[in-house]
Amino acid sequence: RLRVLSGIQPTADSFHLGNYCGALRNWVDMQDTHDAFYFIADLHAITIDHDPKLLIQRRRVAAAQLLAIGVDPQKSTLFVQSQVSAHPMLSWVLECHTGFGEAARMTQFKDKSAKNERTTVGLFTYPVLQAADILLYDAEAVPVGEDQRQHLELVRDLAHRFNTSYGQTFVTPNAHIVKATGVIHDLADPTKKMSKSGSSPQGIIDLLDESNRIRKKIKSAVTDTGREIAYDTELKPGVSNLLTIYATLSGTSIVELEERYEGKGYGDFKKDLAEVVADFCAPIAQRTREYLDDPATLDKILLGGAEKANTVASATLSRVYDRVGFGEPV
Ligand code: TYM
Repeated sequence: RLRVLSGIQPTADSFHLGNYCGALRNWVDMQDTHDAFYFIADLHAITIDHDPKLLIQRRRVAAAQLLAIGVDPQKSTLFVQSQVSAHPMLSWVLECHTGFGEAARMTQFKDKSAKNERTTVGLFTYPVLQAADILLYDAEAVPVGEDQRQHLELVRDLAHRFNTSYGQTFVTPNAHIVKATGVIHDLADPTKKMSKSGSSPQGIIDLLDESNRIRKKIKSAVTDTGREIAYDTELKPGVSNLLTIYATLSGTSIVELEERYEGKGYGDFKKDLAEVVADFCAPIAQRTREYLDDPATLDKILLGGAEKANTVASATLSRVYDRVGFGEPV
């Protein structure tokens, strides 16, 4: 079985529809066909200002949500990044093989450092830690959204560079980005992506949002001029985004949806979509609460995951330490 790996940051109280449609549903699909490693990227979460009490709570809620959407600990190894010490250890080695200019070109760093008053070195080396996350597990496929494409290119370059200098050490991973859902847009401003830091409350739907709140947000989503329900990302970015969400959550194709709503107005379309999204999110929120009510089970799953992850990651780290002249880690 090929290996798949991905991570998500616990930087908000809930994951949003962009996370789900762009990445998480692929995590769930791929655990049936791949040897899957999924983790909560708490080391990455401290690259911006954070509150320690909130972080530990959000990490829990993140794990509960991943289980609630269908990540199955029988099939996947689910763990917390900070519980596997090989991640920062490999990251250091990779930092010493990353060009300063190469890291400085990362657009996510440029965007985030422009927004934050306090830019840390950790924010700068963030993509190198991400490279360590992936390369430690010999991952072939990394399911992510479009915004991670540049980071994945860097990971591939680092793997190739290391292999060329030291001999075959790392598997070169491929970004698994589904074109149709790679970017889910902000409902209030469809020219932007839906994002936990950049979107207004009206622009973002959280998986844990309450049903009526979801309905309201869908009904007030920006649509475009004209009245046709048609997929056209240039002329109708708002409607196209809603069609993408509708198709993804309902399993109906966009073409079928266009036919179904032919001659109907935005009102009917949004009313139905509001129900689809609310019906999709409600059981996720319910299951998340159930997992949170049973912290012992949650901890057991995460500790079991960290143990398995440690076994794989430390074997890779040994290989790397040996290659760069450190001998075995003690
Ligand atoms: P994060 O936590 O920001 O986002 C988690 C996943 O959600 C995707 N995503 C979206 N997809 C489509 N439309 C959107 N509007 C949208 N917003 C977010 C992201 O692309 C991501 O796949 N750097 C990663 C975390 C990470 C990681 C890794 C991922 C750390 N190490 C190793 C893969 C492998 C991140 O910031 O994700």
